[in-house]
Amino acid sequence: MIYLKTPTELEKMRAACTLASQTLGELAKWIQPGVTTNRLESIAREFIHDNGGRPACLGYGGFPAAVCWEVNEIVVHGFPSNYALREGDILGTDIVVDIDGYNGDMCYTFPVGEISPEIAALCRTTKESLYMGIEAAKEGNRIGDISNTVQTYCESRGYSVVREMCGHGIGKSMHEDPEIPNYGRKSTGPILRNGMCLAIEPMINLGARNVIIEKDGWTCRTRDRKPSAHYEHTIAVNGLTPEILTTYDYIKEVLQQRFI
Ligand code: MF3
Ligand code: CO
Repeated sequence: MIYLKTPTELEKMRAACTLASQTLGELAKWIQPGVTTNRLESIAREFIHDNGGRPACLGYGGFPAAVCWEVNEIVVHGFPSNYALREGDILGTDIVVDIDGYNGDMCYTFPVGEISPEIAALCRTTKESLYMGIEAAKEGNRIGDISNTVQTYCESRGYSVVREMCGHGIGKSMHEDPEIPNYGRKSTGPILRNGMCLAIEPMINLGARNVIIEKDGWTCRTRDRKPSAHYEHTIAVNGLTPEILTTYDYIKEVLQQRFI
């Protein structure tokens, strides 16, 4: 069942998405060599709490953290730990914030200090594919148009698309219909209607597309242990111009010329 949001509901989606965006902006100030993901986790929790939100991942299906921490080969659902970030790492920060019963979901992959040109290109391409996928989310198009856009662009650059995890509808629940794979055929799948809220999230690997889940039952990493990039926005379908409800502007303000 796909829920179309009313204008009042869209207002609530905007509020949740704004706080998610501000939280990643806050994290941007602290992400640097030497900091642990445990420390970053507590900064995120405190920030969300102080600003009237609830970290929706915490406790979701037993997930133990407010943010999914994706260091290098971690694709999604990493736990915070006492690992101290190192120069050259990349760190995906996937966060869902709930305000007043509505969820905003986003992810940004940060460079830690200077990163290699090869990994920077992976990140850049993944982020570009997100915006290209968003552009395909026009009223009357189909989910497959988003999927195909992401896949075609990333594969044309020699990267591989993770198949096991997808984007999704979002609203009162973090995960609603429809599923949004990052691969697929044009003109297939559900038709996009105004008021649909979608979390589009390419997960793109430098090496092979294969992933494994660690014994903790959550942490998903590339099988070949090569890096993976992940960017995500929550959007609302709105005629020919989707409204991007989350934003990287707060991150950009902090990172300035280091912004990918
Ligand atoms: N942002 C993730 C997603 O897009 C959040 C899921 S993590 C979980 O689905 F722990 F909450 F499941
Ligand atoms: Co998501």
